[in-house]
Amino acid sequence: MRKAGILGLGYYLPPKRLTNSDLEKMVDTSDQWIMTRTGIKERRIAGKDIATSDLGIKASKLAIQDSGLKPEDIDLIITATITPDMAFPATGCIIQDKIGAKNAAAFDINAACSGFVFGIVIAQQLVSTGAYNNVLVVGAEKLSSIVDWEDRSTCVLFGDGSGACVIGASDNRVIVSSFLGADGSGADLLKLPAGGSRMPATKETIKQRLHFLKMEGNEVFKIAVRIMVEAANKAITKVGLGCEDIDLLIPHQANIRILMAVAKRLGLPEEKIFMNIERYGNMSAASTAVALAEASKKNKIKRGDNIVLVAFGGGLTYGAALIQW
Ligand code: UT7
Repeated sequence: MRKAGILGLGYYLPPKRLTNSDLEKMVDTSDQWIMTRTGIKERRIAGKDIATSDLGIKASKLAIQDSGLKPEDIDLIITATITPDMAFPATGCIIQDKIGAKNAAAFDINAACSGFVFGIVIAQQLVSTGAYNNVLVVGAEKLSSIVDWEDRSTCVLFGDGSGACVIGASDNRVIVSSFLGADGSGADLLKLPAGGSRMPATKETIKQRLHFLKMEGNEVFKIAVRIMVEAANKAITKVGLGCEDIDLLIPHQANIRILMAVAKRLGLPEEKIFMNIERYGNMSAASTAVALAEASKKNKIKRGDNIVLVAFGGGLTYGAALIQW
């Protein structure tokens, strides 16, 4: 088995900002409520003519450029998203065509907010075995297309964006350990009820606003802290490390209170937690993808650091990956 590491990183945020004061004009909410309950100040919103693949393409091109490779060197594209351009074909196939990765296979995965971590782990395994050489993992979301802009309990939380990384054989930035989990008994806590085979689109489903994301926020909150701590611990203890060995935790950016609770339980000081939730909100699979690329670009990570990516989300799914930089 060869070592698999990160060869390149990229991220993209659409330019339009939606601030808490903009939301005050749309639903019965306040900047103060949103800031104190979630830590979010603003989020990015993609234009009407922009789809998830368009966001993913921008981050992918940057990641490939950063890796020093050419698009035709990529032999597999894994796209994590819950807001695909369409139910099918896979958004990854659209990205593959438009970036000119003509030698790549492509498929999408749906592990909701944990999708990018799941993607990295799949890529690491395929590179380690020698089955693939340069795998592009994309986390891209246009959550604004599935958010109910009349539901104040969810619309303040989410934003659009994309991040990508290229994983290949490398002795640097190596993915050394991981843990993935799921608990389908919590499937109803966070879902988009209609438009699938269970409840195909009808006039009635549209009238009942069932094509928008629904979430039992309180329930998810309680589970989130426990499963993120569990996932991070499992990934680091597998290789004989402890929480004190973590240099930077890059968590899924769901809620600042969740991140603080996770940090406390892992015994990590605030400066060891990477946060950009204030600027981007929760971007589901794109959250950890953007956070990893941004942390690297802003020199928050140095050679030799132990980085833990940890996420949880709809499914419920959860996972962590330990990267030795
Ligand atoms: O990445 C996917 C995973 N998702 C998450 O991680 C989200 C996890 N959950 C959360 O982050 C939090 O549960 C929320 C931020 C969604 C909600 O915070 P909370 O502290 O759990 O609030 P709550 O749902 O218990 O609501 C408290 C009050 C309610 O009013 P009453 O019933 O006490 O009168 C809500 O109606 O706050 C009200 N409320 C709002 N008020 C102003 C709910 N949303 C809003 C809002 N503005 N946007």
